[in-house]
Amino acid sequence: MESLKALRNGKSFDYNIVLIGFMGTGKSTIANYLSECFGMKTLEMDQEIVNREGMSIADIFSVHGEEYFRNAETNLLKEMQSERNVVISCGGGTPLREVNVQEMKKNGKVVLLTAKPETIYERVKDNHDRPLLENNMNVEFIQDMLSKRMDKYLAAADITIETDGKSKIDICKDIVAALTELEK
Ligand code: S3P
Repeated sequence: MESLKALRNGKSFDYNIVLIGFMGTGKSTIANYLSECFGMKTLEMDQEIVNREGMSIADIFSVHGEEYFRNAETNLLKEMQSERNVVISCGGGTPLREVNVQEMKKNGKVVLLTAKPETIYERVKDNHDRPLLENNMNVEFIQDMLSKRMDKYLAAADITIETDGKSKIDICKDIVAALTELEK
């Protein structure tokens, strides 16, 4: 953990780090590890929306519909405007709305995590709280959805980090090095 901070001579971040990427690319795991290393807060957007609504993501989608959930995401990002030094773990669909990307960039650097469809499948296949994959849990569907979204993910990203076959420590090192380079 110390070695991550040492990469920046002990300096933390004076902006938010916004993690985006497809479902199963490791956003939550990386957000937790990064924030622990740098003494930052974490905002897990899905979890915050679940807490506020008092129901699971699957229930929000089935009771209120996807649009309602997407509006909740936009409102939450707008609230984050006043925050600094937070690692924000977005839902996989958050950067698909233009306005969300604008909000992320106002006081944050956007980090895109990527993984191969096969890797994603292995990571998400046993989870049942992802309504968009629930009846489509296979590599082909993931591949297709990923390629439809990739342009928007790339357009939103300040940096892109591949995660296949890497440990969370290595992924975090890559992120810290790339963010530090951006600050130059
Ligand atoms: C979604 C991703 C999910 C969650 C919702 C929709 C998406 O978040 O926000 O099920 O559209 O990709 P994770 O990426 O954390 O699984």
